[in-house]
Amino acid sequence: MSFGFAVESSRAEPALPLRYTGGHLMAVANWKNQTIWTGDNLPIMRGMNSESVDLIYLDPPFNSKQDYAAPIGSEAAGAEFKDTWTLSDVDVEWINLIAEKHSALHRVLLAAMTASDKSYLVYMAARILEMRRLLKPTGSIYLHCDPTMSHYLKLVMDAVFGKGNFRNEITWKRRHGFSSAVHKSNRFGICTDILLFYAASSASPFTPQYSKDSPEYRAYVDKSFRSVDNETGRMYQATSLTNPAYRPNLIYDYKGYEPPKNGWMISKEKMEQWDREGRIHFPKSKSGRLRRKSFADELKGMPVQNIWDDIQQIGSHSGERVGYPTQKPLALLNRIIEASSNEGDVVLDPFCGCATTCVSAHALGRLWTGIDISEKAAELVVRRLRQDRKGEQVSWMTHAPKVIHRDKPPQRTDLGKIPPHNSPANRKLLYGEQGGDCAGCGLHFQLPNLTVDHIIARNKGGTDHIENLQLLCGHCNSVKGDRGMEYLKAKLQL
Ligand SMILES: C[S@@+](CC[C@H](N)C(=O)[O-])C[C@H]1O[C@@H](n2cnc3c(N)ncnc32)[C@H](O)[C@@H]1O
Ligand SMILES: [Zn+2]
Repeated sequence: MSFGFAVESSRAEPALPLRYTGGHLMAVANWKNQTIWTGDNLPIMRGMNSESVDLIYLDPPFNSKQDYAAPIGSEAAGAEFKDTWTLSDVDVEWINLIAEKHSALHRVLLAAMTASDKSYLVYMAARILEMRRLLKPTGSIYLHCDPTMSHYLKLVMDAVFGKGNFRNEITWKRRHGFSSAVHKSNRFGICTDILLFYAASSASPFTPQYSKDSPEYRAYVDKSFRSVDNETGRMYQATSLTNPAYRPNLIYDYKGYEPPKNGWMISKEKMEQWDREGRIHFPKSKSGRLRRKSFADELKGMPVQNIWDDIQQIGSHSGERVGYPTQKPLALLNRIIEASSNEGDVVLDPFCGCATTCVSAHALGRLWTGIDISEKAAELVVRRLRQDRKGEQVSWMTHAPKVIHRDKPPQRTDLGKIPPHNSPANRKLLYGEQGGDCAGCGLHFQLPNLTVDHIIARNKGGTDHIENLQLLCGHCNSVKGDRGMEYLKAKLQL
């Protein structure tokens, strides 16, 4: 019943097809800018229109077998989330759906070593599939994880986005210094997280970032920019102005200094301009060579590569700190948002915690929405939007920007005109497709004895679209209720 919709990809390896939405695909969001949702992100994302988001950053629980709780008395006190999985936690109907529709992804799930890992991956896979649907063909996604599951999650991301759309695995060195907590006696200290960066297609934009904070860059500047400009006190490096090739038209005297044999690199007009700007180094002796002053403070910084060691995790005295157990630094989100989105683009964080992504997106002029199962996110985003980047109260902002708080999943508006779920047309179509058999027990029935069921219940974000419908006999329908097919099959002992 599903039609393929291939997204442009630079390599032969196809990304998973987006689901055909019954009409035309509209890149229009069916929720308002600055909406914070409280609830499980799966039904909420299921209710969002396809191709309505430019950038997704997700920092899900890591399956680290820890339970986090915010310290009592901190701004985030009361926020708690569980970071361990067992099979019973999983929306098991997704295993069947994935097996049927996404066989490559299903094979990845089977590679998990333990039941807990498998259920974690199913939990993530179901959500990552929705994220794929939500991204525009020019979108990008950053999955923040740690080495516990990053190797499995990379396979999941490959299966969902296509291997050709993998852009970077970024190692974020979040801990610095000699903290004894980092070290264990039987292994090396752990001080990094992993960010898996994928694009929706080769058309996804990217803006290179530069940093002046990395130890490598600071060492380079200290070593190379040792001269001090007498007038301004700025640090500079004197570089050659000699032309490597012979250029007779660039051979001229300047303020009594002789030209090099090959001539200068620049014209006399340019030399005069740089002189006026204080960019020419004049040696004391007229027999010395004029050189160019390159100022350290005019460097962009070092192009950011795939090891990020210049952003510190939130420290106990950081101004940004709200006490949320896994709060990420704004600098991390600023870099991601600036690299992979433009002003006015839409940013989504489906595990937004204390809403760091939303605060960063807001400050950078992006539209945003965030989802978190904990009530705290909604409360914290309003409080944090009143603060500037250093965590100080912004005096001119007497009211926090408007934030919309919702807890019910939205209703998709991009599905085209679809008939009511139990319309005669749907019943006839499904009866033909199923060959007159109940989709639960498999027994044959006459059409009047079969009822139309939502495979994924509407209160879990399932739609009236024919793809989400099936015929069940009265008994199967009453057993299943609004649960998944796995439950029905277990009850029927199939
Ligand atoms: C690692 S934290 C994110 C921290 C966030 N990046 C920040 O800077 O505050 C993971 C978040 O996922 C939320 N969460 C867990 N399961 C969820 C679900 N099914 N739907 C939505 N949020 C969920 C937790 O409440 C927690 O806030
Ligand atoms: Zn039945």
